[in-house]
Amino acid sequence: MATATPKRDILRTLRSEHDELRALFDQINDTTDRAKKTRTELLGRIEGGLLPHAKWEEDVFYPALRERADRDGKKAIAEAYLEHHAVESVVMPEVKASAADTPEFAGAAKVFGEQIDHHASEEESTVFKLARELFTPAELAEFDEAYEAWKDSASGTLAVGAEKLKGTVKTAGRALA
Ligand SMILES: [Fe+2]
Ligand SMILES: [Fe+2]
Repeated sequence: MATATPKRDILRTLRSEHDELRALFDQINDTTDRAKKTRTELLGRIEGGLLPHAKWEEDVFYPALRERADRDGKKAIAEAYLEHHAVESVVMPEVKASAADTPEFAGAAKVFGEQIDHHASEEESTVFKLARELFTPAELAEFDEAYEAWKDSASGTLAVGAEKLKGTVKTAGRALA
């Protein structure tokens, strides 16, 4: 009998994206204030990884889970949404409003990384656990395919572009404040 191809699994994909982000934050935290170019480049990669991930969770994954979740599950999802929102509207604009060659940037980037690590760890231990209970392996595989297709699609690119624009407006607002 031929070995079965391992099933795709959205939770494995999302978890590996969390790990990629954690690794990028480790790198950015290791930089000195002189590493302006490296910091800017790493921040770009963090944003590029984070925006599609968060947007898809918010628009597709969390709503699908919430439909099947009990009260405690709904509470965990409400926490996750709020953590996304706090990062997007407070933490990220703060990082982007600081010049990359300053201690202010280093401090803000550290908080950014801590928030992401906290959120990702909690998501892995509660939200993903819930998803494993509420979705069948076939459904988790379908989500994985849909996520990949969405990332490559025009609507995915548009959604992420709109998020970026929102971020720019928030950052500008912060710089003026
Ligand atoms: Fe999330
Ligand atoms: Fe996530």
